[in-house]
Amino acid sequence: MLRLLTCTLHILTVMCLSLAEVCIDEGVEFDFEYASVGEPLYAVCPLYNFLDSNNFNVTWIRNDTQAEITSDTNARVHQDQNFLKFIPAALDDSGSYQCIFRNSTMCIKKIRRVVVFNYDDGLCYNHSIKFRSEITLTTSLTIECPFLDNYGNYWKIPVKWFKECEPLDLDSGHYGTAPKALIVKNLSTEDSGNYTCEVPFIYNGVTYKLSRTMEHTILDLEKDPEPVMLYPKNDIIEVELGTPITLSCRALFNGSTLLFWTFNESLISDYAGEDRVITGDPVETVTEDGLLHFIDLNFTKVLEEDYNRKFYCHMFYTTKSIKFYVTIKKPDPNLQGVLIAVFLSLFLVIVIAIITIRIFKVDIVLWYRSSCLAKRASNDGKMYDAYVIYPKKFSGTSSYEMDIFVLKVLPEVLEKQCAYQLFILGRDDLPGQALMDLVDETISQSRRVIIVLGNMFCVDESDFEQKIAMYDALIRNKIKVILIEIEKITDYTTVPESIKYIKQKQGVVRWKGEFTEDALSPNTRFWKNIRYQMPPAHRYSDSELHYIHSED
Ligand SMILES: *[C@@H]1O[C@H](CO)[C@@H](O)[C@H](O)[C@H]1NC(C)=O
Ligand SMILES: *[C@@H]1O[C@H](CO)[C@@H](O)[C@H](O)[C@H]1NC(C)=O
Ligand SMILES: *[C@@H]1O[C@H](CO)[C@@H](O)[C@H](O)[C@H]1NC(C)=O
Ligand SMILES: *[C@@H]1O[C@H](CO)[C@@H](O)[C@H](O)[C@H]1NC(C)=O
Ligand SMILES: *[C@@H]1O[C@H](CO)[C@@H](O)[C@H](O)[C@H]1NC(C)=O
Ligand SMILES: *[C@@H]1O[C@H](CO)[C@@H](O)[C@H](O)[C@H]1NC(C)=O
Ligand SMILES: *[C@@H]1O[C@H](CO)[C@@H](O)[C@H](O)[C@H]1NC(C)=O
Ligand SMILES: *[C@@H]1O[C@H](CO)[C@@H](O)[C@H](O)[C@H]1NC(C)=O
Ligand SMILES: *[C@@H]1O[C@H](CO)[C@@H](O)[C@H](O)[C@H]1NC(C)=O
Repeated sequence: MLRLLTCTLHILTVMCLSLAEVCIDEGVEFDFEYASVGEPLYAVCPLYNFLDSNNFNVTWIRNDTQAEITSDTNARVHQDQNFLKFIPAALDDSGSYQCIFRNSTMCIKKIRRVVVFNYDDGLCYNHSIKFRSEITLTTSLTIECPFLDNYGNYWKIPVKWFKECEPLDLDSGHYGTAPKALIVKNLSTEDSGNYTCEVPFIYNGVTYKLSRTMEHTILDLEKDPEPVMLYPKNDIIEVELGTPITLSCRALFNGSTLLFWTFNESLISDYAGEDRVITGDPVETVTEDGLLHFIDLNFTKVLEEDYNRKFYCHMFYTTKSIKFYVTIKKPDPNLQGVLIAVFLSLFLVIVIAIITIRIFKVDIVLWYRSSCLAKRASNDGKMYDAYVIYPKKFSGTSSYEMDIFVLKVLPEVLEKQCAYQLFILGRDDLPGQALMDLVDETISQSRRVIIVLGNMFCVDESDFEQKIAMYDALIRNKIKVILIEIEKITDYTTVPESIKYIKQKQGVVRWKGEFTEDALSPNTRFWKNIRYQMPPAHRYSDSELHYIHSED
């Protein structure tokens, strides 16, 4: 019984041992094997690097199906010791393959991953599967077609080369070939690109191709950083004589420099006295744009000798140097300012003149008449300077004043003092004359008509005088009318339309005065306004003009 049990146990143990073979699992190889669809691929067992496959039996198993790969060399996919061969590869060959090394005492396994891919549309490669390299510009570049060694000596057949999938003209001087390699001569950044090599591969009488794509980026040589001179840049500045000025040489450079000012290739200390033109100490500050270097050149005052000379700021950096100058110029007189000032004052003068003329128009005209410049009043054959029309019958209290004004004041000033000849109906007419004819005749013999207005303007016999005068003035345009108000008219309804019209057109001269001495001076504003409207007076003699010049 016990023996039977022991025996059974033994059998079980043997069975178990043979079923569950202990195999060391090395996990998954990091690197992939790649092949494009239709190209042969020899996937290599990743264990072969550290185990000699001759001492082992090698087995390949597809990981997802756990199916062992056949060893039949005529099969499209078969195993051949170290190699798992796809002739050619198909898209669904992509996956993981277990590679197992065995000898009688041990077992070891590792997974190899295979990727089979398609080309990108219109290209001879898949952009995500290519070898990349970046180099800086050198004289030449050798590009080797990689991973061909496992395929035997097929690479001894000339390799075809493509750049961006366009075949390269290998006979041109720019390219040369070596076994498995392309040599790009006289390299420039233009030679950057995707290079594809193609090698024929014959298996069982069928020709396949192997292709590899490499992307080469050729970078220009790093240039030495160049300084940036901010000031001066061969400037010309205008400075007034005797004023101080600071010229600040400023440059950006991320490194150490020597910055200094010169004149005529000599240091500034040789140019002027030590204390008139001074160079400061070079200063460095870190700014957003890099390291800023500057050095001041101070003129305590600019002299004539400084003008039109070139002061250079030099900068030494690495093994090179640069220099820029600034020239101090005497400023031009400010022509523009002068012109503006001239025009402004001219404008002001004109404005003031216009205002003055408006205010003193009357005085100016009177002065002009009194001066020698005035032409004598032409002899137009008229007898009177003015025909005076005034209301003769007043019912109001002002009747007295009206008579005083017309018969006393007007003649006193205009006739006696200003030498005018007036015609006043009731003073100058002879009794028995036909009134209508006389008025008509006399008005046409007069140069002006003076109409004196007061309150309580009445329609009376003076009415026809008015009518004739208005006819001459307004319709025949023959005579000028001067309106005088001897008092403020409160009710204009009684005033004839024609007179209102003239008043509106040319205004009235208003008598404000008392009947005093002063009011009888022809140089008061009232009389000046009347005289202004009157024709120029006949001149008698210079002595009689004295009152015109004497001011009130
Ligand atoms: C291999 O297959 C096993 C089970 O069949 C699975 O667990 C494992 O993830 C697979 N390995 C790879 C790398 O596909
Ligand atoms: C099997 O391989 C291992 C590792 O190389 C070695 O140590 C061992 O001796 C081999 N066994 C036989 C029977 O050759
Ligand atoms: C490989 O397998 C064969 C037959 O299965 C066997 O004769 C041979 O000894 C094995 N070789 C090694 C190294 O284990
Ligand atoms: C290029 O290769 C990648 C990785 O295998 C694949 O995912 C992609 O589909 C391929 N491109 C084309 C156009 O097949
Ligand atoms: C190299 O290329 C430059 C322009 O890229 C060209 O001027 C020069 O002649 C070329 N030299 C040779 C030896 O081809
Ligand atoms: C290589 O080709 C890709 C497109 O597939 C392009 O974007 C890239 O610029 C090319 N490389 C160079 C260095 O020209
Ligand atoms: C510049 O220097 C030279 C020689 O040092 C001298 O002959 C010349 O007069 C100088 N010019 C001025 C403008 O100072
Ligand atoms: C030059 O002038 C500037 C300002 O006008 C002043 O800040 C600076 O200290 C002066 N440098 C020298 C060396 O006098
Ligand atoms: C100096 O370096 C800064 C960044 O550190 C950069 O932005 C700047 O362009 C550089 N300036 C020069 C003149 O090289």
